[in-house]
Amino acid sequence: MASAYPITEHTFDAIVVGAGGSGLRAAVGMVEAGLSVACISKVYPTRSHTVAAQGGINAALGNMNEDSWKFHMYDTVKGSDWLGDQDAIEYMTKNAPAAVYELEHYGVPFSRTDDGKIYQRAFGGQSTEFGKGQAYRTCAAADRTGHVILHTLFQQALKNKVQFFNEYFALDLLMGDEGECLGILAMCIEDGSLHRFRAHQTCLATGGYGRVYFSCTSAHTCTGDGNAMVLRAGLALQDMEFVQFHPTGVYGAGCLITEGARGEGGYLTNAEGERFMERYAPSAKDLASRDVVSRAMTIEINEGRGVGPNKDHIHLHLEHLDAALLHKRLPGISETAKIFAGVDVTKAPIPVVPTCHYNMGGIPTNHLTEVVRLKDGQHDTVVPGLMAVGEAACASVHGANRLGGNSLIDLVVFGRAAAHRAAETIQKGSAHKPLPGDAGEACLARLDALRHGNGSENTGSIRDAMQKSMQKHATVFRDGPLLEQGIKSIGEVTAALPEIKIADRSMVWNSDLVEALELQNLMAQAVATVHSAAYRTESRGAHAREDYPDRDDENWMKHTLVWVDDKYEVKLDPRPVHYFTLSNEVEVIPPAKRVY
Ligand code: FUM
Repeated sequence: MASAYPITEHTFDAIVVGAGGSGLRAAVGMVEAGLSVACISKVYPTRSHTVAAQGGINAALGNMNEDSWKFHMYDTVKGSDWLGDQDAIEYMTKNAPAAVYELEHYGVPFSRTDDGKIYQRAFGGQSTEFGKGQAYRTCAAADRTGHVILHTLFQQALKNKVQFFNEYFALDLLMGDEGECLGILAMCIEDGSLHRFRAHQTCLATGGYGRVYFSCTSAHTCTGDGNAMVLRAGLALQDMEFVQFHPTGVYGAGCLITEGARGEGGYLTNAEGERFMERYAPSAKDLASRDVVSRAMTIEINEGRGVGPNKDHIHLHLEHLDAALLHKRLPGISETAKIFAGVDVTKAPIPVVPTCHYNMGGIPTNHLTEVVRLKDGQHDTVVPGLMAVGEAACASVHGANRLGGNSLIDLVVFGRAAAHRAAETIQKGSAHKPLPGDAGEACLARLDALRHGNGSENTGSIRDAMQKSMQKHATVFRDGPLLEQGIKSIGEVTAALPEIKIADRSMVWNSDLVEALELQNLMAQAVATVHSAAYRTESRGAHAREDYPDRDDENWMKHTLVWVDDKYEVKLDPRPVHYFTLSNEVEVIPPAKRVY
């Protein structure tokens, strides 16, 4: 591999890229299993986006009323609009209680019930008895659940001596001649030095790509770097058309107001003061699943019943709730509402609007977290040496729509599964396969070209154009002509990429270079999203097409695989949904009309 710059070599049994909840849980488990493990993160671990998760983590503990992992599985399959892989959903929901108790034993300070059990609140789309009663399944630490989980896992990782490479930007996968992953190339952000990490398993825990949108609850760092690395390795991403819009982002600022606010008794109203969710979801009302609530809010706004001078948002009411409850259960969002909307939640409603929150799509994996590709149009084959977990991965436990509280449980259940699988497949300390002679060359050429970028465009303006285009063309409601315009518009934005000018090219490193690398990553995913959305001619979960308003199981109960090459040429193919279970404890849940 020729490089103008020296490359430092590192060898480990396993590497984990990303230090959010799933990455840390995987790394901790791998070290506990005796493997040598590096965790490579572009931010200091406690700044990973898991820190922003508020409302809680789902597990059928039954602390508030009777519950069962089988009800959790039913709700998740229904929430996924039958696009989720039922074997993976079974695995997640069945292992959820053990994963939560493990977090408790690691030291997560969950809120407590009066009798000392983990406190659980109601979240959207949750039921008991397969759709009949209301479940209280979301284990919470006030409204800072992600924060405490992330800090606890980081402390466990430090205790277990996971070797951290903080503020290292992962550039590309190193692939072998037989299509296996042999490690990654990374750049130290502090000094621009290059590093080659060799590993028997590379586990991508790089999060979602919310920042392709103009308004999102995601941190600025959510640029889907692992997803883009997978595309550049010639592998497919899956179900990229399914983007979740959280009903309650603060109007104008985008920050999250947890669904737990409605779980604790909050409700939405339109300009007429009407609790409109009663019309859209007569049983679950404000606690219907997120796609349903976001669509209802958008319809209210589009039909002229939005609040505010421009009639472009909705009110979330908490002022009827006891101030002591707000203080105890929702302190974080009370503060957020004050800072970002100037609202005292004990006195006035919070202005909210559906805001991009989560990517159901990502790197296709099996339930053991191994990355898969289709070998014959029907059956999966594992990509040796490559795993993916968390929001980067598409296991697919969320299908077409994720339920609130299922993200944190996905992180820890599959982080743990990755550790188990790595322990099973890696022979500790064994020698690494030699790299092909040209491994990493394309990556270094790309980096070199960017470092010398001296065109006419700055990174920020291209990013802005991409985000505005995605916000306009691939949002809560879509239709064919709008998506075709989106494909054209995003195509025009990608054409500006070779024209990037990097500020102060005399330096080996500067923040502009990192932002340009992130923009390249985002752009590939924007292209994947808009093409996948145009490809799927039905409405399912978060993908709502006005020109195809119905779900079409006959033609579309299948995943979308998408490849995007370095010229932004796109290829799309279907992949069968896993319509089977792992054990005989549960049967497959057959498709049904999804009403709340
Ligand atoms: O609303 C929330 O607290 C977000 C939770 C989630 O996305 O799972």
